[in-house]
Amino acid sequence: MSLQHEACYDGSNRNTMGRLMLLDLDRLCQGGKVMPGGNRDTHVAITFHNATKYAVVGDVANDDTLVWGAPPDPDSSGYTPDVALQPLPYKIYETLAPLPLPDASAPSALPGLEAIARTGAEPTGEAIPDRSTLARIARLSNGLLGRQANSWDGKTIEFRTVGSTGALYHLEVYFVCADLPDLDAGIYHYAAHDHSLRQLRAGDVRQVIVAASGGELALAEAPVILALTSTFWRNAWYYRSRAYRHTYWDAGTALSHVLAVAAARALPTRLVLGYADAAVNDLLGLNGVREATVALCAIGRTARPLPTAAMLPPVDHPTRPLSLHEVTFRVIPMMHQASALESGASSSAWRAAPLRRRSPEPQGPLTPLQPLPAEHLPATPIEDLILRRRSTRHYDRETPMSFAAFSTLLERSSRGVAADCLASDAPPLHDLYLIVHNVEGLAPGVYLHHPQRHAVEVLREGDFRAQAQRLTVGQEPPRDAHVNCYYLADLDPILECYGNRGYRLAQLGCSLSAGKLHLGTHAMGLGAVGSTALDDEVIAFFSPHAVGKSYMFVTVFGKRRSRPA
Ligand SMILES: Cc1cc2nc3c(=O)[nH]c(=O)nc-3n(C[C@H](O)[C@H](O)[C@H](O)COP(=O)(O)O)c2cc1C
Repeated sequence: MSLQHEACYDGSNRNTMGRLMLLDLDRLCQGGKVMPGGNRDTHVAITFHNATKYAVVGDVANDDTLVWGAPPDPDSSGYTPDVALQPLPYKIYETLAPLPLPDASAPSALPGLEAIARTGAEPTGEAIPDRSTLARIARLSNGLLGRQANSWDGKTIEFRTVGSTGALYHLEVYFVCADLPDLDAGIYHYAAHDHSLRQLRAGDVRQVIVAASGGELALAEAPVILALTSTFWRNAWYYRSRAYRHTYWDAGTALSHVLAVAAARALPTRLVLGYADAAVNDLLGLNGVREATVALCAIGRTARPLPTAAMLPPVDHPTRPLSLHEVTFRVIPMMHQASALESGASSSAWRAAPLRRRSPEPQGPLTPLQPLPAEHLPATPIEDLILRRRSTRHYDRETPMSFAAFSTLLERSSRGVAADCLASDAPPLHDLYLIVHNVEGLAPGVYLHHPQRHAVEVLREGDFRAQAQRLTVGQEPPRDAHVNCYYLADLDPILECYGNRGYRLAQLGCSLSAGKLHLGTHAMGLGAVGSTALDDEVIAFFSPHAVGKSYMFVTVFGKRRSRPA
């Protein structure tokens, strides 16, 4: 990948000498510290979002005409990935003994599309996972798939069961457990490279996380708390500061697997984003800058009382180095720190009044969706969907996709998830805009999904294949796929309600829906691939409807075609 560092796509970013004005990171970060401001001081999220925008200079959108940030982020603009520094995609504790896990991917009885649609709040009694359930959740959300390929830089990629931006696999899964039927209470890291657990701490210390969350009830009742972390450098090595967006894109994708696999085992789940970051990171032995917790998930339910945790000594088990050295892209720690919560009390205050935004009112004709009834859903279980899921880059663009498949996927991927900071009966924080190229019974064009009305609204008819390719930096799958799904959010009310942390939530919510949709396509004999896009051009394309919104995420799906010879 190469960049035109000198190029400026927007004249307003030039100073009087005609030189490119870069983002003044030193001023913003004040030597590493974020400028003061309360929870509702949201300039950091906006600065981060702008600093990680993709834009293109000129008529052709490709890697060579890409500009990083508006105004450009100096750390990213002046950087080229050094193949010699490519990070190891695994966290390997050098001194801890592995606890072997069963394979545990045998199919469950529930149709995969039903598991995907569950929110995690469906009523259950006591539900306590065992070691093989943890093995199943970990392998199917972050484990190895058993397939390899050669990457552009001559290395071997070991694919995982979940997609990941650039196949860079920067996420880690930890379990904080009570005593389970066949596993002692403790904190365990899931080691993807050898499909095992390693115990970081012994004993039931869930209370520390519950306190850090301000007493979140689902966490207090959960026999297992999953902590998902990112080691930012593992993605930033290639994607620079945009890696922090990818953190939440990939986390939402992985969590769509976690939630569906748990649902298929009748385990309740609740996503928790309100927690004191440092307290959780300290418990896991993370410094919170290089590797940090990005989401928690309560799994299962138990009536057994939560034991109090004694004062805990720090843990610092040695791990294998990832690279000869690591590069820091300053907007990442800036954004993560500015969106941190400090205490249990601030966490419960943070989630106390979730945003209830109003969905856009339809302004034009609605087409009601016609999803398959539950009894006609394909029976393929979630485990099979996950093991057969891949990123689909070749589409049979001439053959239309059925309206029933289109409707079923939109409907089943948009029912939301149970989360500490979201109102279960409120609309999602994002709007889903669609570019429809070839769906039976729908004129090609631009549509808006109205999940609460179970309908799509046509905004503009036309053939937009060329624009779809341009918007995604010249990539072919968005041109050829049957549907492009753009998740856009109005960041102002989100940040107003949730402060800078709302940015984490907004990104995560979009990729979670997209992750569900991606899994669902494989139940319908279709395929999908996540993508990336030119932020401001996306908004211009969907405007005037999308004025004021921000581009969050795009995924495309459709009928697969075998790879051309
Ligand atoms: C959030 C996200 C964004 C992605 N963006 C792109 C993209 O812009 N272009 C692309 O070709 N693939 C994209 N991918 C697909 C990854 O490259 C793919 O997941 C990875 O190479 C692993 O392959 P697999 O999904 O077939 O297992 C994306 C995947 C995810 C999860």
